[in-house]
Order: sequence, then C-alpha cells, then structure tokens
Amino acid sequence: RGPDLEEVGAFFYTNYMEVNKMSRKIMIFDTTLRDGEQAPGFSMNVEEKIKMALQLERLGVDVIEAGFPISSPGDFEAVTKVAQTVKKPIVTGLCRANEKDIQVGWDALKHAVRPRIHTFIATSDIHMKHKLKKTPEEVLEIAVNAVKFARNLCDDVEFSAEDATRSDLDFLCKVVEEVIKAGAKTVNLPDTVGYTVPMEYEKIISTIMNKVPNVDKAVISVHCHNDLGLAVANSLAAIKAGAGQVECTINGIGERAGNCSLEEVVMALYVRKQLFDVETGINTKEIYRSSRLLTSITGVDVQPNKAIVGKNAFAHEAGIHQDGVLKERTTYEIMTPESVGYPSNKLVLGKHSGRHAFVARLKEIGFELNNSEIEIAFAKFKELADKKKEVYDEDIAAIVENQISSH
Ligand code: KIV
Ligand code: ZN
Repeated sequence: RGPDLEEVGAFFYTNYMEVNKMSRKIMIFDTTLRDGEQAPGFSMNVEEKIKMALQLERLGVDVIEAGFPISSPGDFEAVTKVAQTVKKPIVTGLCRANEKDIQVGWDALKHAVRPRIHTFIATSDIHMKHKLKKTPEEVLEIAVNAVKFARNLCDDVEFSAEDATRSDLDFLCKVVEEVIKAGAKTVNLPDTVGYTVPMEYEKIISTIMNKVPNVDKAVISVHCHNDLGLAVANSLAAIKAGAGQVECTINGIGERAGNCSLEEVVMALYVRKQLFDVETGINTKEIYRSSRLLTSITGVDVQPNKAIVGKNAFAHEAGIHQDGVLKERTTYEIMTPESVGYPSNKLVLGKHSGRHAFVARLKEIGFELNNSEIEIAFAKFKELADKKKEVYDEDIAAIVENQISSH
C-alpha cells in the first residue's frame, strides 16, 4: 500500500511550521520626547526634538511619541514637525480622553506617513475618585467615546488606562474589552506610579490576556515607571505574559525616577533571546549614539555605572577581570561593546590592575618595551595609580616618555 497521504501532509506541515517559526515581535514605543521630556531639566525645543526623532528612526523604534500637542504651542509645533519629518516609525502624540484634545492632537499628527492617536484616562479608584471625581461607569463611557471619536479621525488608535496597576482588575478587564470594541488597536496598561512588582504585573497582564474575550484584536502594551527601580524588570515580566508593545525612553528618562530604559529592556531581550523568544526591530548598534545625542541635547549625563550606556558599562578595572577579558572576553562580558555601538572595550587602568593588562595597554598605545623597561614602567604606574583613581593613556605615555626614554 502507498504512503498515507494524511500522514505525509502532516509531516510536511510540521516541518514547514518549524522552519518558518518566527519569534514574536515586540513593538518598541519610544516616549523620550513626551514622558521623558516631561521630567524637570529634560525639556527640548522643536529643533532638538526633530534631531532626536531622526536618531530614533535610525535606531529602529516602531513608534515615536513626539509630545502632548495640546499642552503648548511649542509642543504642537514639535509634534507637527516630527510627523512631517520621520518616514518609517508610527508617530503619535498624547491626548486626554476628550474631543478637544483629540482634535488638536490629530491636527498635529495628520501629517505623518503613519499617524496614531494616543488617548488616555485613569481607571484606578484613587484617580477616579480624587482626581477625576467620576464613577467607574462614567469613566468607561468617556473612554469608549474618546476611542470612537479618535477612530473617526485615524485608523490607528491607542488607549491607555492610566494607573492600571492600581485599578480593580475586573473593571480593568471591562475597560479593555470595551475600548477594543470601540476600535482601539493598542491598549496600554501603565504602571503610572512605579508601584507594581514583576510577579504581580505578570499576573495582571496574563489575566487580561486570558479573560478579555476580544483581546486578540489589539496589541497589549506596557508602560512602566521606575519609582522602585523595577521598570525594566516589570516590562520583561509583562512581555513574558504576552504583552506585544513596550513603552520606554532613551537613558530611562521620565517623570520622577524615570521610565523603563529602552537600551536596558532591548538588550535584555537580545542577550537572553533564548529565554524570551521574541525580537525587536532595534538596530542595537545605534543605542550608544542615541544615548549620547540625548545627553548632549539635555546637558544631563547618565551615571557612570548606568547599564549599557554608562562610562563604566564595559570598563573592567579589577586586575583579575582584566586578565580574564584579555584571555576570553565572555569570561566577564555578556555582550560586546560593539553590539550597542560603544566605541571600544575600555580597560580602565587603576590600582587594582595587573601587569598583564598594563602590558596589553602599552602595546595598544604603541609602546613595545623590553622586560626591564616594563618593570620600571609598571612600578611607576603602580605609584601613580595609588595617587590617582584612573590612569589614562596619556599618563602611561608620560611614564614611558619620562622614565624609560630618559634612561
Ligand atoms: O504613566 C502613565 O500612565 C502615562 C500614560 C499617560 C500613558 O504616561
Ligand atoms: Zn508615564
């Protein structure tokens, strides 16, 4: 008897699916120009926002939130100009859930190749009672009407349930269901005050994914603040639970303690790809340049030990680490500096540095010394390192030129 055609078909189908198995794509929504800029000391003018938006486009973000159009004429102009300038990413702007905000937002965003209206209202009891002075029923109606109004202007509408993590979960499920019915294509569940923790946020997101009947009609987005230093960890937990979009900022700038840092969440997904099995469209080699552009625009540097982009992020000072990295970089490096566009693997020499690292640096900066010369230079280097925290290439050159050449 010939082969069972059903079995053969199943075999080919399974193999075809295996070969074509793609990692889930996570959309990177950058809000450096909106939530980031809202923090004191980080405001940007129109030209600066355009410069930054062009760099974000090179970086490969999926969405640029360019501002809050109704908040000021300057921000309206900035959102309009960013919408007119960038071509690849979706461009959005924040609007409260009322017709005036949404109409003004649309007037700025309509110039974009791919516009999105982003509207929001708070859904937690604390916010509804004290800030909005509205009942949950009233808030639900406002949210639905805002999304319907926005959808009449624009195909791509995102709704955010502000303070989602402190909202009643049954009410939150209802809101998500109804705004999706009203036409929202993305529903964002922010941890507005940086209050949640990974295991709790993972549960909130998985409840939404499992309980909201029409959840597959929209992308669930997460937006975490860093008040407890957990914004990146919370975002990763949410991705694991099924979120499809992460809202974040370059250098983690943003209200109070900041937002989820783009470079940290993207590199965590990249370095631990096997664990998450997701991908982003980010060109990681543009990360360092994006970070530097932002610090040069705002005049606010990141701390030296900032993950991924800080001055010390790839610097190995302890002798034992320097020796390991020189032998095999993966001993102490989980990603290469080049993978984030960092100029080079910087071995900062200091009092803990060993002879091996010192000799390697001598070679790198062009000095080939014999053993006795190395002894003299190394002794001088240790003397200097005791007085000075970090020893730079210029210091080493001075040691060689003064101590060795004069011998
Ligand atoms: O933190 C927050 O809740 C926000 C929303 C308005 C998206 O920034
Ligand atoms: Zn926020």
